[in-house]
Amino acid sequence: MSSRRTAPADITAAVIASFERSEDERLRTLAQSLARHLHAFATEVGLTQGEWEEGIRILTETGDITDDRRQEFILWSDTLGVSMLVDALAHPAPNGATESTVLGPFYVPGSPLREHGADISEQEAGTPAWVHGRVLDLDGNPIAGAELDVWQNGDNQLYAVQDAEAPDDHLRGRFMTDAEGRFAFRAVRPVPYPIPDDGPVGRMLNATDRHPWRPAHIHVVVRAEGFASVTTHIFDATSTYLDDDTVFAVKPSLLREFVDRAAEDPERPAGVEEPWVSLELDLVLAPGESEIPADLGRTH
Ligand code: BEZ
Ligand code: FE
Repeated sequence: MSSRRTAPADITAAVIASFERSEDERLRTLAQSLARHLHAFATEVGLTQGEWEEGIRILTETGDITDDRRQEFILWSDTLGVSMLVDALAHPAPNGATESTVLGPFYVPGSPLREHGADISEQEAGTPAWVHGRVLDLDGNPIAGAELDVWQNGDNQLYAVQDAEAPDDHLRGRFMTDAEGRFAFRAVRPVPYPIPDDGPVGRMLNATDRHPWRPAHIHVVVRAEGFASVTTHIFDATSTYLDDDTVFAVKPSLLREFVDRAAEDPERPAGVEEPWVSLELDLVLAPGESEIPADLGRTH
């Protein structure tokens, strides 16, 4: 008779031991810890066979719905707070630089490079917003030649990649800072929006009485040679859902005021004839390595 023991704790110990042979130390750490925590989860909740089957079904559906136009795995990571946890682990303490937050699934590399002050909307998209400011180093010195890669939704709640009617480059663009570190662009006031909730993540939110909404924000990736790139959002400080973002991505330092301006305001941007808003914004970079965000696929 075999002496092999198959009580729950024995199975966990055997799986952890099976990774001992791995010569890659980091991989061994990751695999053993994953096994330990996964087994602890199943043991703690007394996972039933039916629940295990449902979990397999959910993972299968997540794979099935994910393609080069939709990334449901990122949505799981975002809605389970893993994206923000990994971000917090990478940036344990604020260092005076603009804080980071999630990239989200609507980032599309290769935005058009636009002129200082240009409009990122290529069709009607909401209340005009004049966004302007500087990119600075930790000592407050301007950084010339920094790149801002911006994207946002319009008042129909959609990013261009989600909207079959919108031109590909609608509501996105790249801008370079001038010799004084200044940038400016015309955008629109962003609005709160629900993350895509017609897949397994949406069913999880619904089943757990959670909502799919995010507060209004503009996305920006800032990078400059010799500085650590920052992937972040600028949140409208008056938006709904700031205390209840479905992806846990709000940091108080990222809240800004969109100031109401009258149609007749002499500072109105060229072409604006209706009430508009302005947003002043300094972005601060710490020394480090400039990187472009990885393209993990997106959700249209
Ligand atoms: C976004 O801000 O674009 C976003 C972030 C996480 C999940 C879905 C959308
Ligand atoms: Fe967003």
